Amino acid sequence: MKPLRKAVIPVAGLGTRFLPATKAIPKEMLPVVDKPLIQYIVEEASEAGITDLILVTHSDKSAIENHFDKRYELESELIRRGKTDLLEIKRGTTPENIRIISVRQPEALGLGHAVLCAEPAIGDEPFAVLLPDVLMYHPHKGCLKQMVDSYNRTHTSIIALTEVAMDEVEKYGIADVEGSDLRIAGMVEKPKPEDAPSNLSIVGRYIFTPRIMEILKQTKKGAGGEIQLTDAMAELLRYEVMFGFTFDGVSYDCGDKQGFLQANVEYALRDKALGKEFREWLKLFASSL
Ligand code: UTP
Repeated sequence: MKPLRKAVIPVAGLGTRFLPATKAIPKEMLPVVDKPLIQYIVEEASEAGITDLILVTHSDKSAIENHFDKRYELESELIRRGKTDLLEIKRGTTPENIRIISVRQPEALGLGHAVLCAEPAIGDEPFAVLLPDVLMYHPHKGCLKQMVDSYNRTHTSIIALTEVAMDEVEKYGIADVEGSDLRIAGMVEKPKPEDAPSNLSIVGRYIFTPRIMEILKQTKKGAGGEIQLTDAMAELLRYEVMFGFTFDGVSYDCGDKQGFLQANVEYALRDKALGKEFREWLKLFASSL
């Protein structure tokens, strides 16, 4: 199996849960503290050794590509004003070891379809998929890096899983796992608690063998009339073993307002420059409620 060096980030969705904020701004550009979501994800991919990032995008989402572009006027203005610290921050937006390629998904036909749109750039290599609205926090070793270490041992597809409360399983794709190595036996999309095989939800980081692309080409529309990645994963299980991976860290579903707010609070508390003052304010504020 070839080494893992490519990753797909699908950013062509409609972001309806965040309207009206996402009417003119892509959801992936919403900031957590001072960085847009997409930047955290690109940094996580870079840390994991990814060199080729494929953004699956849409004509309404050019702000994302622009974010990773150079802005000469801004740079020369910062130089003119002597703001070298801000210049460094600006220049650090795109990690040096990463090439970003864009492909278009003309219509939001579902996550599975978005991943399939990246096929010409993936070829017959294994690849990762990172959902940009899921932030995975770990102080030293990001989620994808942890998964790549695991992939280098198994050379199989690997799916990140996180525990959710049993009464919340209806919101997520839930994995049926076997044994301590979390071999995946099946997947159920949004089950009722009484039908759920576990409380391990599929959480927005995946590593796939290239066969998933062949399967996606045959995958018909599923739940919500969309081409579902979960359906293709269930089919992949008929041919290959797949393992679950429970991330040692915290995940935030920033596509959801609660998750987004919580991520902002936690990242602000951890921020070296802001954290101390923000913590004091938050304590006072919470005690006044
Ligand atoms: P979501 O379903 O969470 O995002 O997809 P969404 O559809 O944009 O948001 P809501 O549900 O309407 O609020 C997860 C990721 O997959 C991308 C989205 O951009 C998001 O980053 N996606 C989803 C695509 O690129 N194409 C699709 O057809 C669907």
